[in-house]
Amino acid sequence: MIGRYIIFASVHLFVTFSTLKILSIILPCSVTCYCSCAANFLLCLFVAILTFGFTKKRGLNDKIQPSYKAVLITGCDTGFGNALAKQLDTKGFHVFASCLSKNSPGADDLRKSCSDRLKVLEMDVTKDESVKDAVQFVKYNLGTCVLWAVVNNAGIQKGFTTELSRMQDFKDTMEVNAFGPVRVTKAFLPLLKQSKGRVINVASVAGRLPMAHSASYAMSKHACVGFSKSIRLELDVWGIQVISIEPAFFKTPLADPENISKRIDESFEHIDEDIRNDYGDAYFKKFKEKCHHLFGLSFYTSNIHFVIDDIETAVSVQYPDTVYTPCGSIFILIFIKCAQLVPDHLQILFLKFFSNFVGFPKPIKAN
Ligand SMILES: NC(=O)c1ccc[n+]([C@@H]2O[C@H](COP(=O)([O-])OP(=O)(O)OC[C@H]3O[C@@H](n4cnc5c(N)ncnc54)[C@H](OP(=O)(O)O)[C@@H]3O)[C@@H](O)[C@H]2O)c1
Repeated sequence: MIGRYIIFASVHLFVTFSTLKILSIILPCSVTCYCSCAANFLLCLFVAILTFGFTKKRGLNDKIQPSYKAVLITGCDTGFGNALAKQLDTKGFHVFASCLSKNSPGADDLRKSCSDRLKVLEMDVTKDESVKDAVQFVKYNLGTCVLWAVVNNAGIQKGFTTELSRMQDFKDTMEVNAFGPVRVTKAFLPLLKQSKGRVINVASVAGRLPMAHSASYAMSKHACVGFSKSIRLELDVWGIQVISIEPAFFKTPLADPENISKRIDESFEHIDEDIRNDYGDAYFKKFKEKCHHLFGLSFYTSNIHFVIDDIETAVSVQYPDTVYTPCGSIFILIFIKCAQLVPDHLQILFLKFFSNFVGFPKPIKAN
């Protein structure tokens, strides 16, 4: 190991000094003269940080041994959680796959298709008692293992256009997506402190970008990203790492067009007559059609392995990134990264353009 550190330190120094040398050759003399000692130092530091980060991640990022390491995942009934439980099981981890209902088809499937290392348990992340019972279950079944990682994956999406959605949609979404990770992380921290393990929060690109017609979801995921950023600083003293997974668009039950249509009907069921008149009946029909079409588009990919592989990496490499943004398409990833980097007013233009491109309807009385 020491040998490899020396090799990588040498590569890192070589790249840093070569870059500086090349810059001093290609930059015109007037610029080089301007490059005072301070500027050279800053440039050197910048390149050094970049190359060290790169070489460390590529060369020294060994995988940890899964034996005697347990991983707790929330929301394993369907989607990412279910697939992740299976993948980590095949890699040799001891998986605690928590499901909203332990009798759900997804829970049955896990019991049938996985090794006997995997244990299915019931946990509703919105209920203190349920989370407490889950902690007892994990403690009782850990045996000689340590709890290495908690993956806060459970999530819901309720509520669309804010004025038309119920207050309850906002509360429910916050309760699962924002307070759920807090409740579960707090409950399992004593075990994670023993293992110096990691907390992995499944947020979303909606945790960094505003999303029209999905404010409840976006605010819950912004809260989740904020939670990860803050506890990362707090838990460092315990040797616990915090990783945020921020997927883009994937075909799972959460983003299924039929499920979305049902949730729109539920959300828009009890709208005041005055508000309904402001929007006009055509709005509701067209909005539903647009959402159905949007969630059915091919940029919602079924290749959820992008997400599952990133979470597996976050669980199993020695030096995980702080943030992963799994995405099915390089173009969408570039769009997302650009939208995140540009100043606010440009970002708003960007997203308005996207909204117009999708063709969301306008309320009849809006000018
Ligand atoms: N799909 C995407 O494009 C996408 C993009 C970005 C982020 N995400 C995030 O990824 C995570 C997984 O979502 P997914 O796409 O795999 O959707 P999913 O298939 O609907 O998975 C979410 C799971 O959470 C469970 N759940 C709901 N409420 C719960 C509660 N109170 N306690 C415990 N579990 C609960 C659901 O159980 P039931 O099936 O019984 O309701 C479901 O199994 C979510 O946090 C989601 O926000 C998804």
